[in-house]
Amino acid sequence: MTDYEHFFSRAALKSQGSAIRKMGVMAVRVPDMISFAPGYPDPAVYAWEEFREIAGELLTGRDGSVLQYGPTRGHKPLIEACQEILASRGITTTAEQMLISTGSQQGIDLVGRVLFDPGDVVLVELPAYTGAISAFRNTGATLVGVRQQADGIDLEDLDRALTRARAAGRTVRCLYLVPNFQNPTGLLLSLEKRQLLLAWASRADVLIVEDDPYGALYFEDTATAADTRPIKADDDEGRVIYLSSFSKTLAPGFRVAWMAAPEPVAAKLDLFKQTQDLMPPALDQHIIYQAYRRGILTGRLPMLRKFYQEKRTVMQEQLRAQLGDLITWPEPKGGFFLWATLPAHCSTDEMLLRAIEQHVIYVAGSAFFVDGTGANTLRLSFSLPSKEKIVEGVRRLTRVVKEEMAGRHKAPVEI
Ligand SMILES: Cc1ncc(COP(=O)(O)O)c(C=O)c1O
Repeated sequence: MTDYEHFFSRAALKSQGSAIRKMGVMAVRVPDMISFAPGYPDPAVYAWEEFREIAGELLTGRDGSVLQYGPTRGHKPLIEACQEILASRGITTTAEQMLISTGSQQGIDLVGRVLFDPGDVVLVELPAYTGAISAFRNTGATLVGVRQQADGIDLEDLDRALTRARAAGRTVRCLYLVPNFQNPTGLLLSLEKRQLLLAWASRADVLIVEDDPYGALYFEDTATAADTRPIKADDDEGRVIYLSSFSKTLAPGFRVAWMAAPEPVAAKLDLFKQTQDLMPPALDQHIIYQAYRRGILTGRLPMLRKFYQEKRTVMQEQLRAQLGDLITWPEPKGGFFLWATLPAHCSTDEMLLRAIEQHVIYVAGSAFFVDGTGANTLRLSFSLPSKEKIVEGVRRLTRVVKEEMAGRHKAPVEI
């Protein structure tokens, strides 16, 4: 057999698979598995009828651009639609600042390629979104974590991390964060801290990468649209690169997202994007554009907020009823995730194999920590399973958590 190791680049040798994607594969292999692992939207609330109608109209052959090559930055009418969405969030943009990306994941990857050299330090939250961790690590950058508090990133720890990195002679160009219903913690960054972060970025001369796929999905019992005001909305100096996506509100399969960056940065993102995908998928962009223009997106948002809020409520009620104060979590005020903390001696990595034995799955918190901590934490996603499955899944999880706490578990099975 050929040994391929010596063919790989240093970056490829260092690259690691995402814990979450692996969970997804496992969940499919085990029948009757209840998965709280991936942050998938629920297909039950996709606009199937409307998408079918729009796709049918688009695929008549009358408009060749629907299946043609197009601009790298994206379909112009869709860019304009995204600018309207941004304006509704308080962000004013020029067309030159805009790019449609093939999912926000591509946007994050592009940011890493455009901003970081090997050895640079990138500041991220503790814990942080794994897709960003992997993309940034692929550039050879070192990720340094900053603690979070109940109202988002800890500004004192942020300052300390920056000072330490610069004192060690490292280049620090940016802070990446998810201010609205963060993946994985569900935390909402306070409005006050958003302002303070802009002042900090100016003082420190760094850029902020604001990743906001969940902002539109606030839960009306605990949050308002005003609470989700993007940092970018008050960015007078052009320090913020803002990303958002149609994945969580319309459907991730279209792979359509967008980003707004200062013009010189957007120009570089455009150049790097040309070698990645030439352009975002044309048909998907047309469908998303029509879904926006016909009011399908805006019209469905109140229903989506309520739908996911109800699932959040069921999960919280079940956890409270069955686990009481054995675990703690911050109440998710929007988004897809509930972040649970077990007593310090517990290991959610070890517990995972026993959870799989009980046919329930989650993501162990350590996957999200760039500093190797978080062993007693886990992410539960309530977005995909039905309410009935959430009830049953929490019942199974309760058994596993109680065993872990009592330390009287059997040896795990191999899967
Ligand atoms: C914080 C965050 N950023 C980006 C993404 C990627 O989204 P997209 O489907 O637009 O690539 C996700 C998806 O889970 C996410 O949670």
